Amino acid sequence: VTRAGYALAWITLSDKGARGERVDESGPLIGKAVGDTLDLAVVQGFVIPDETGQLKGLLADLALNQGFDLIMTTGGTGVAPRDITPEATLAVIEKRLPGFERAMTAASLAKTPHGAISRAVAGTLGQAVIVNMPGSPKAVAECLEPLLPTLRHTLEKLQ
Ligand code: MTE
Repeated sequence: VTRAGYALAWITLSDKGARGERVDESGPLIGKAVGDTLDLAVVQGFVIPDETGQLKGLLADLALNQGFDLIMTTGGTGVAPRDITPEATLAVIEKRLPGFERAMTAASLAKTPHGAISRAVAGTLGQAVIVNMPGSPKAVAECLEPLLPTLRHTLEKLQ
């Protein structure tokens, strides 16, 4: 089944961004890159603080109530005290997608040894795919590259 247009949500995890103290480039970059690959009917962006309960609630609402097909987070995947994105994602996903995680790690390590620091998680919740990515625009571009060619087929399989 090929759908006319998918619904994408990007979520930027950033305490400073949520306070309006920094401009978020990575979220809009996700919208542009995915929009160049998939036919998107809806793109909605969120900037929220690094709070586990808030992220879990938003992921579940977008996937299960609002019908988003693809939810990509950026930021909070590292080891800083406030980095909680992978834990919140693991708490809500149903089927993990380790291949997505490995593809991002492999692409990242080909660019920088710091790729080893990201603990980004990917998986499904209902009929949505959720993917964590690191916070910098450079990292987002590098992590999206290996995933873009498989997104459409993954979303079709979930229907
Ligand atoms: N992955 C890629 N592809 N490119 C990068 O520049 N930066 C790393 C890593 N992953 C990076 C990357 C760095 S420096 C960190 S600290 C971790 O992602 C975690 O980033 P985050 O806390 O913003 O999610």
